[in-house]
Amino acid sequence: MSTLTEKVQASSLQFRATRSTAARVAAEREAILADPGFGKHFTDHMVSIDWTLERGWHDAQLKPYGPLSLDPAASVLHYAQEIFEGLKAYRHQDGSIWTFRPQANAERLQRSARRLALPELPTDIFIESIRQLVQADADWVPSAPETSLYLRPFMIANESFLGVRSAQRAAYYVIASPAGPYFAKGVAPVSIWLSTEYARAGKGGTGAAKCGGNYAASLLPQRQAYDNGCAQVLFLDTQENKYLEELGGMNVFLVCKDGTLLTPELSGSILEGVTRSSIIQLARDRGHRVQERKVSAQEWRDGFASGEIVEAFACGTAAVITPIAALKGPGFVAGDENAPAGELTMSLRKELTDIQYGRVADRHGWLTRLA
Ligand code: COI
Repeated sequence: MSTLTEKVQASSLQFRATRSTAARVAAEREAILADPGFGKHFTDHMVSIDWTLERGWHDAQLKPYGPLSLDPAASVLHYAQEIFEGLKAYRHQDGSIWTFRPQANAERLQRSARRLALPELPTDIFIESIRQLVQADADWVPSAPETSLYLRPFMIANESFLGVRSAQRAAYYVIASPAGPYFAKGVAPVSIWLSTEYARAGKGGTGAAKCGGNYAASLLPQRQAYDNGCAQVLFLDTQENKYLEELGGMNVFLVCKDGTLLTPELSGSILEGVTRSSIIQLARDRGHRVQERKVSAQEWRDGFASGEIVEAFACGTAAVITPIAALKGPGFVAGDENAPAGELTMSLRKELTDIQYGRVADRHGWLTRLA
């Protein structure tokens, strides 16, 4: 049930806005914002844009948040033709709302679309879709430290057809979820489980795309990680079963005792994280050497044992920068599960979040104002 329909001219598409008549009252919203957790609560509105082969992108709408109606034969339900993104809206001290490097997310969504044979959404429409939603649900952007509004753009193939080919009909959506820390323990150090049995992605596969299928492949090994007291699973390459790729849902960095940062090179099966590339930039700005190269699990284990590797951390939009205390696997623990967070890890985390929350100058021009 909704009223108040208006038309807003976005760059190259006109958005039709229909306001929710069932928006949560302020007290209910404030109770959620006081303890948002991660990915549990959703705002009052969403965006949808349709695509067909004949018409291209059309019918852009800001509308009340609610269930999708899908034909049971919709191709996404059978062949997993789906991609997504993750970025955040941050409230600054003066009340304004900003997002971080949205062009990078738009471009990655386009790369993912190419790999999954979905239509590419132009960057201006991607950014406008986020702006529309955040402006409508601005009251849902929390202001407490370490909180934000997590934005989840995604695209599905929704043609009703069971033949296996790329769909000729698709839809793009954006939903938003107020967020605190991704891990239940906050920014406290976590342990990581090395999966020796399962892989996330292989050569020529979809590992560099942000598609649901990659995450589906991570769920069973992720459960094994939990069963072994670890917060995330770590995957190795599929050719030699030796080199670090990425965690279930984030990239990984190691810090050497001479201040060099190591992170797995973009092998074609690793997601190019926006947080990953921002950290590389910030570390280089400080004069740290950053090596994007093959890093073996053995090098990490030996480095932790010898003191050559002194810190490790996970990074991603959701996790920001989360310290890693130990790497565990069948029959071994490298590092100390109770070790405190690393100094460089926490200082990079502070610098990155200071930029995102507008507490220091945005010297790289990474912020875009949304409201
Ligand atoms: C993100 O960091 O935005 C992701 O997509 C990772 C997911 C585990 C929430």
